[in-house]
Amino acid sequence: MKVLVTGASGYLGGNLCRALLRQGYSVRAFVRPTSDVSLLGPASATHGRDGEGSLELVYGDVNDLPSLLVACSGCQVIFHVAALVEPWLPDPSRFFSVNVGGLKNVLQAFRETKTVEKIIYTSSFFALGPTDGYIADEKQTHPEKSFCTEYEKSKAMADKVALQAASDGLPIIVLYPGVIYGSGKLTAGNVVAKLLIERFNGRLPGYIGSGQDKFSFSHVEDVIDGHIAALKKGRPGERYLLTGENASFVHVFNVSSFITELKQKALVSHPFVAGGDIWMDISSLLSNYRKASSDQSSVYVLRHQWAYSCEKAKVELGYNPRSLKEGLGEVLPWLKSLGLIKY
Ligand SMILES: NC(=O)c1ccc[n+]([C@@H]2O[C@H](COP(=O)([O-])OP(=O)(O)OC[C@H]3O[C@@H](n4cnc5c(N)ncnc54)[C@H](OP(=O)(O)O)[C@@H]3O)[C@@H](O)[C@H]2O)c1
Repeated sequence: MKVLVTGASGYLGGNLCRALLRQGYSVRAFVRPTSDVSLLGPASATHGRDGEGSLELVYGDVNDLPSLLVACSGCQVIFHVAALVEPWLPDPSRFFSVNVGGLKNVLQAFRETKTVEKIIYTSSFFALGPTDGYIADEKQTHPEKSFCTEYEKSKAMADKVALQAASDGLPIIVLYPGVIYGSGKLTAGNVVAKLLIERFNGRLPGYIGSGQDKFSFSHVEDVIDGHIAALKKGRPGERYLLTGENASFVHVFNVSSFITELKQKALVSHPFVAGGDIWMDISSLLSNYRKASSDQSSVYVLRHQWAYSCEKAKVELGYNPRSLKEGLGEVLPWLKSLGLIKY
């Protein structure tokens, strides 16, 4: 079976490609000419050894429909993973052109390509909106009263496009991961790894808010399993939350200290503590303006709770998310092996 993966050069898409290849799929990886594809491994026209699938790179942009048409040709499945995943951009319209316009182009490419049978679209918990004081499931749609970030708004708008496509009868399955963590490329999407690196290197003295924030943490391998299970067992038109343990970022740091038996300075809670920006790509302190804007988005995000139930995916897809303790027990040695943290 030939599958197209958009966003193949990213954190989630790269992990997905590698898993699909291990399972014998022929993977066509949709990347941009500027994408760093070093973690994808060499492309191969034929099947690899030991039942490994083949990898083919195709170049394009989700904003460029003709490139998507070429990429989709001959594929049975599209995993649409690509998105702009950033806390803030100087030109917010890019979130909408890539995250909403890109999905519309993928759907158009599906309509014009006769071979594709299923579209698996990677949405986000942000598309469902906050869950202050309760745990949400797939019945929730974004209330659209306010948005903490333009990224959140773009994913919520894309969700409407996806749900409309589903009600028009397109065989689309919409997946909603929580905060994804685990080994893989250190992009802005790999926020937990980036924060752990900051914390373990003494550059994260505090956090914004009370520490009572709630996020749903999804290990990347579980999210990948959920994507492949959606391909095999997912019902077209359905939504599945691929979330995990609902906990605060402070809990993530506490569990990490426990695992590594490292005594770390207590985190300071303050709404304006510098460096406590959960949603900031910390390495990208390019300018004070960018940092200030990014920090502000984080404050808005941390004013809410984002807790979800993945019961439906457990029952229908066999999704089986690991605990944070187990997941972090894998992430920390991985970061140590890369020399990014010491303990
Ligand atoms: N990370 C999380 O915690 C999280 C949580 C929930 C949902 N998600 C969703 O999961 C998906 C993947 O996120 P991620 O964390 O893997 O992000 P990522 O590492 O930033 O990867 C994004 C991918 O999208 C590609 N892309 C961006 N703009 C594009 C364009 N115009 N045309 C074609 N490709 C483009 C990027 O290509 P380049 O390499 O060329 O930049 C990259 O391959 C996204 O849909 C995101 O919304 C992520």
